[in-house]
Formats: sequence, structure tokens, C-alpha cells
Amino acid sequence: MYNVIMDCDPGHDDAIALLLASRADNIRILGVTTVAGNSTLENVTRNARRVLDYAGVTDVDVYAGANKPLMRELYRLTGAIIHGEDGLGGPEIPEAVTPVRPEHAVEFIIRTLRECPEKVVLVPTGPLTNIAMVLTQAPDVKEKIERIVIMGGAIYDPGNVTSAAEFNIYQDPEAARIVFQSGCDIYLNTLDISMKAVFYEEDKERIRAKGGRIPTFVAELLDFFGATHVEHFGFFACPIHDALCVGVLIDENLVTWEHTYVDVSVAEELTRGETVADLWNVTGHAPNCHIARTVNRERFVEMITEHMGRSYVSKGRP
Ligand code: RIB
Ligand code: CA
Repeated sequence: MYNVIMDCDPGHDDAIALLLASRADNIRILGVTTVAGNSTLENVTRNARRVLDYAGVTDVDVYAGANKPLMRELYRLTGAIIHGEDGLGGPEIPEAVTPVRPEHAVEFIIRTLRECPEKVVLVPTGPLTNIAMVLTQAPDVKEKIERIVIMGGAIYDPGNVTSAAEFNIYQDPEAARIVFQSGCDIYLNTLDISMKAVFYEEDKERIRAKGGRIPTFVAELLDFFGATHVEHFGFFACPIHDALCVGVLIDENLVTWEHTYVDVSVAEELTRGETVADLWNVTGHAPNCHIARTVNRERFVEMITEHMGRSYVSKGRP
């Protein structure tokens, strides 16, 4: 059983990642924290809470975190284009009934890492602002972090904000650099695999055909998310980037990895947020990151399809 904290910016693929984690047999969600990214902190927090309530996950608390990157203003363009103005365009689901907790996300993560009797996996699927703040404010908690499974970056393939940079890293490159240089065991799910493990129309319709609240909700999320990918990128398939971070916990063979040294460009404009890997060991730096190299798309599609048909079963406390 993995004890997991999901740090997210829902966001369509974040929402599906939350649903997958809640339905996984081997994942206990200790809490969900939110970070401004795909939309404002207010929107992504509202979305996280209402998705969890809609899915019956009312015993998992949500904590709001950073409302902007560490040193920059919040970049709003791509998120609104891809996820809609409120961050979760498309299906209509009710407002949450469960209140968002008053504790700040960073304080929650630090407290939970210190108090949990077992190690914890951090799964950030938005900008790394909260995680960087945790590691900076409380370096002692690193020993309680089993691994950090990040959705972010692009090594071999182009970015999705600029050709150099993927959105989460572009949004807060300074935070990403802090996390990559933390010494924690980092697994980086990049666009190199998330833009290959995509869902085609027939995959989406298989999910919709299962019927019921969650499969219908996921299909409608993919209707919207897929349409914006066609409109903005001319890309006729739907990547569920963030859910891959959960998928690799459910099936350790879903993705293959390469251990290398990765740094982040914090320069302005042209290379802002570029994740650069020392693939030929010219820097002399020891590897600090496992970058995803291959993914089993069919297995991922089957995993999502099967799990979305499940009901939520609480995993209690560690
Ligand atoms: O580049 C894709 C990532 O940026 C995903 O996490 C998506 O939700 C957005 O946050
Ligand atoms: Ca996200």
C-alpha cells in the first residue's frame, strides 16, 4: 500500500488522476493539495473538492496551497485554452459539500510527512511550487519521502507551451529546479510518454459505454479535453498526462525509466522551463532523476477503463 499525497491543479487530467488513485487497490490518499497552474488557486481547489465529492471520496481532505509561482506571475494562457476558464470545462457536476480544510497545503504536507508512521509518496501533477516550499521550509522531511512522481518536462520531444518547455515546469521553473536538486528519489513522467499513451475516440467510447456516474463523467471530461487539443494543437487524441503518475504506482511495469541528471532552465523567455538531461554525462553531475522512456499505452488504457468502473473504497489511515 502506497501512502500518497496528490498535489494538483485540476485540470481534466488531474481530475482523472484523482479518480484513478481513489479506485486503486494499493493507494491510500492521505490528502489532496492544490496549486495554481491550469487555473487560479480558487478554481483548482474548487475543482479538486467537487471532483472528489462527486466520486464519493468525502473522507479525503483538500488543502489549498500556493496561488502563484515562487518568483513569477501566474501564466494563465495555456491553462484556459486547454482546460477552460474555470479549469474544468465541459461536464457539469455539483458544488462540493465537503469543506476545504483551512490548513495551508504546505503545512499539511510537512505535518503529514512528520507524523505518518510510514514513508509517503508525493505525486505532484501541477507546478512544483508547493513541493519546493515543503523541501525548503522543512528539509528534515526528505527522509520520509519514499519518492516524488512528477508529471512534467519534456526531454526528447517538444514542450507544449514553447517547443522547449512543458506547462508545469514552464509555470514555475525555479520551483522545479529546487525539487530536482533536492536529493529526493524523483520519477519524471514527461510529455515523451504522455503524448504517446493517448486515448483515441474508440478508447473514450469504451469508457462511456460502461455507463454510470464516473465512466460518463470521465468520457465527458475527455470530450472537452480532446476537443481543445484538436483546436489548439491539431492533435487528434487525448493525453491523460497526470494519470500516468498514478498508473506507475499501480503497475510498476507500465513505464520504463532512464536514470540521468536533469536541470531546468530558469532563463527568461526562449528556454524558460526547459528540462535538460545530461544524457551523455558531460556535466559530471550524478543522476538525480528517473526520466520516463517507454510506456505501454494499451495497458494504460485498460487500467483507466477498468478502474473508472469501480466504486470508491476508503483505505482508512496508516
Ligand atoms: O503539460 C501537462 C500538464 O500541465 C498536466 O499536468 C496538465 O494538467 C497541466 O497541469
Ligand atoms: Ca495538472
